[in-house]
Amino acid sequence: MEKDIQTIITTNEQETRQVGEQLGSSFAGGEVIALNGDLGAGKTVLTKGIALGMGIDAHILSPTFNIVREYHGRKMLYHFDFYRLTEAEELYEIGFSEYLREDAVVVIEWAQLFPEVLPQNCICIDIVYGEGDTRKITIQRNA
Ligand SMILES: Nc1ncnc2c1ncn2[C@@H]1O[C@H](COP(=O)(O)OP(=O)(O)O)[C@@H](O)[C@H]1O
Ligand SMILES: [Mg+2]
Repeated sequence: MEKDIQTIITTNEQETRQVGEQLGSSFAGGEVIALNGDLGAGKTVLTKGIALGMGIDAHILSPTFNIVREYHGRKMLYHFDFYRLTEAEELYEIGFSEYLREDAVVVIEWAQLFPEVLPQNCICIDIVYGEGDTRKITIQRNA
């Protein structure tokens, strides 16, 4: 399996949003983005950027209490947060696999909590705290 790894350092929230925006504008549908990183790392900020890049101007809220939020843009964006899930069973109950469509983009915060539900070709993004407000964003595409 060929891997393409890219690392970006951002120094503020806006830069992280811009990284997301660039990604979002490149998405054609069928992308699944597994977002990992500690609380406050910037997963929701990055998702806001992705939404912006997909032509979504809605306010992006953290889906923590809802498991998933849906947005209409060039493609549908399904924004998941696995943080409060206790077992993968809860994902089957809401029909998780039906969200993984070729004409939609799926972003999952805390994806590492249930790696077994992720498709093999997902784009893994890790956000790690650095000094001050810096964040190290690693994007790994499995192609
Ligand atoms: N370089 C940066 N990138 C992203 N967010 C940053 C950065 N520096 C500071 N922040 C702040 O960190 C917080 C990230 O919050 P959020 O995206 O909700 O985190 P998460 O969803 O990972 O828990 C925001 O308050 C944001 O302003
Ligand atoms: Mg979040």
